[in-house]
Amino acid sequence: MSPRFTLDPFIDRYAQRTQSMLSSEIRDLLAVTARPDIISLAGGLPFTQALDPETIMRSVRRVLAEDHAAALQYGPTDGFAPLKHCIIEVMREEGTPCYPEDLIITNGAQQGLEMISKIFINPGDHIITEAPTYVGALNSFLSYQPRVHTIPMDENGMILDGLREVLSGLSAEGAMAKFIYTIPNFQNPAGITLSSERRFGLLELANDYDCLIVEDNPYGMLRFGGTAAPTLRSLDESRVIYLGTMSKIFSAGMRIGWVAAPHAILDKVVLAKQSADLATSTFTQMVAHSYFTSEDWRGQVGQLVEIYRSRRDAMLSALEEHLSGIAEWTHPEGGLFVWVILPDFIKASEMLAAALDAKVAYVPGDGFYPHRGGENCMRLNFSYSDIETIHEGIKRLAKVVKREISLAGSLGFKVPRPGEAPPHDEQ
Ligand SMILES: Cc1ncc(COP(=O)(O)O)c(C=O)c1O
Repeated sequence: MSPRFTLDPFIDRYAQRTQSMLSSEIRDLLAVTARPDIISLAGGLPFTQALDPETIMRSVRRVLAEDHAAALQYGPTDGFAPLKHCIIEVMREEGTPCYPEDLIITNGAQQGLEMISKIFINPGDHIITEAPTYVGALNSFLSYQPRVHTIPMDENGMILDGLREVLSGLSAEGAMAKFIYTIPNFQNPAGITLSSERRFGLLELANDYDCLIVEDNPYGMLRFGGTAAPTLRSLDESRVIYLGTMSKIFSAGMRIGWVAAPHAILDKVVLAKQSADLATSTFTQMVAHSYFTSEDWRGQVGQLVEIYRSRRDAMLSALEEHLSGIAEWTHPEGGLFVWVILPDFIKASEMLAAALDAKVAYVPGDGFYPHRGGENCMRLNFSYSDIETIHEGIKRLAKVVKREISLAGSLGFKVPRPGEAPPHDEQ
């Protein structure tokens, strides 16, 4: 909207960077889809109902009984030291060695993304992301005004030829990318996992072009089958900035995440965090510490994996039953999301009104691209709804899609393959 026609009386005063801040379409959408009559496959919520409140109450009681004054006090910017040992245990579980001095605790992984953007991105800098990618990361990056290069994915993750092309193109111009951002496990939104071979290839390219990698791994422990590939950080500590979180294995509401990175980078992250919020809540860090040291957190993750696996299966079988031959979709081995690719003449964002009318919601794919792409795609969440609801939701959705197809009056439509984003459109 042109500033002249805005109703905002302060429009002339905002910093330029606010112009590239995106309002989260997903958040706006979630407000609509929270209506109880709508089956929402749109959110990205973990199923916190699975956590027994008694275990949390025990943890809170222990914290208050043992040292309520410390729990209610400010804490160090880099985090509550005993909790770092729990995080180290979580990282070991995924085969990533880590030491307390390699870590800082943040207000969710989202704050890690914000801090990394803050310390690395000058306006006009180049960064590289997968396409599609996590919209919260894009929002943090874009508010610092970089040029974003996107790399399409196939079923094995980021296509390395595309990445090589971007890196060598930049190098030919005498430029370099500040970092490559990847979500290697059960990616949000596509549900795709970066294959082991590609992980090695990615590190090799990053090494050839002296580029940092930001490895965002909220979903790695939510694996339903198959074999885990090594984390990038476990393969190269010197150029990987790793982001972890308790949001998907414990509680998103506690807002606890972490950054593991080379020490020089951590020093800068600490400075950035100091000015952002001084420290992560001591209270929630102490509760989390009590939970991880005294409760069966592994059993809890195992239970979540069982629930999510059955819901993923329900979603895949409902898609097969109702949209087979009409759409394609990814088959995630973990995480929370399935990515659906519709015939290319369907615009998922335009179809949403009809879907809401049919009492089902999804997230249109184009919001996960910084430029263009994903218009005929949608992200579906399977973690939050029960099996019956998922079946009913997909049934409703399929009806809407079929109506859209018949409206378009097209019979010989083409079903595109995953990862049809433009190869590396630059902002
Ligand atoms: C890929 C990715 N990174 C980071 C986050 C933010 O997680 P947190 O709750 O730890 O801030 C999310 C949340 O959904 C995510 O999907």
